[in-house]
Amino acid sequence: MSFLDRYESAAEDRRPALVVSWIRTEWREFFAELRERRPIMHTPLLTLVTRFADVTEVLSRERVFTVRLYAPRMDPFLGGGFMLSQDDTPLHWAERGLMQSVLPVQDVPRVRRMAAAFADEALDRARPRGRVEAVAELARHVQLRVCREYFGMAGIGLDELSAWSRAAQTDIFGNLHGDPAVHAASLDAGARLRDRLHDLIDDRRARLGCGGAVPDDVLTRLLRGRPPEEVAFGDRRVLANLAGLLVGSVENTAQAVAGAVRELLSRDDAGRAAVAAAAEADPARFDAHAWEALRFAPPNRMIFRLCESDHVLAAGTPRATLIPAGTLVFACVSSAMFDADAVPEPDAFRADRPSHTGLHFGYGPHLCLGRHLGTAIVPEVVRRVLLRPGVRPLPRAEAGIRFGDPPSPAPPLTRPAHPRQAASW
Ligand code: HEM
Repeated sequence: MSFLDRYESAAEDRRPALVVSWIRTEWREFFAELRERRPIMHTPLLTLVTRFADVTEVLSRERVFTVRLYAPRMDPFLGGGFMLSQDDTPLHWAERGLMQSVLPVQDVPRVRRMAAAFADEALDRARPRGRVEAVAELARHVQLRVCREYFGMAGIGLDELSAWSRAAQTDIFGNLHGDPAVHAASLDAGARLRDRLHDLIDDRRARLGCGGAVPDDVLTRLLRGRPPEEVAFGDRRVLANLAGLLVGSVENTAQAVAGAVRELLSRDDAGRAAVAAAAEADPARFDAHAWEALRFAPPNRMIFRLCESDHVLAAGTPRATLIPAGTLVFACVSSAMFDADAVPEPDAFRADRPSHTGLHFGYGPHLCLGRHLGTAIVPEVVRRVLLRPGVRPLPRAEAGIRFGDPPSPAPPLTRPAHPRQAASW
């Protein structure tokens, strides 16, 4: 029986759980059927959008499909508003611009070298055991060290940073049920992170003031910069943005590295081609293999938005559908990257796809701020793994890379509050 037939014949109270379980375990098959038979699927709790054109329409209409549901979780963690919790506001545009200027594309080779060195150190440390735990020991480890040494979170323990990042991510993107304990854990983590960043900022300011030695990292650049007064980018805003880099980067990068490693090592031809590309003199020759692997193991299966006003999605096409105000919309980026209208031969593994068909970094006004960094860090860490002679995934029974719940966001089992009440979540 098809997914939709099973959905229709299930009792109404069972349907949300069915959708959740299919997205967790059979997302490719489920989304393939939706793209074909019901590309915009309304459920009592949320609406799934599965075609490339419609996903990008949702993600580019920031006044209709907003990020408002992030704010009540993200802002208290960061100690103020943030570009990802606001749509089309002066703060969003000004701070996005400022942050982009302190994360210039020119830094990518340097950050790539850092990621390579951190990954090699982690792999060397694990070598006597003959196995590496790919998520915490490798992928998270590398990105946490990037946070310390490139973003400027110097001296903060990696375990602490890791726990705070996880607590924030779980609450902001995975807690649509509104579990108060999850929220409280994130608030606590945010307070501890902000305390440490506060001290770091004071210390760095003092050193800058007396001409002391300072590292060339994002924090130094933020404190040295002179944004226009109208932007009001004081130390509180520096702190919120620095904290935002932790939340934005760690979980996504770790998920992507681990997913790509597993995907490549579990494929015969594509795996061999990737190993060969990894050994080429120009490291960038390898990157397309990792990104294509991630189409099959996407770090984010979907991105959620709140529809603020009635909107006809896919207007002018046979699938035109009214999305009523108040609908929770899941833009299924993982599905869109298998839409044959946008991605030729979507089921084939091809390492020659143009980057514009990839939606791993989102789309539109919230397109990932760190995509240039992520585009280098993720494949470089994967490459360092594939360069190890004889590397292979452990059999499942011995664990290999184990994935629990999918990454953000976990679909809610209860309807979210109406938009007008959402601010009090
Ligand atoms: C493989 C690695 C990464 C992936 C897959 C990824 C993915 C994403 C996605 C999907 C979004 C859009 C979220 C939405 O529209 O709701 C996003 C936004 C963002 N990402 Fe990343 N990201 C990665 C690495 C990074 C890194 C390294 C940084 C830090 C420099 C970063 C910082 C951010 C920030 C600040 C935003 C919000 C941008 C805005 O709202 O204007 N990300 N990322």
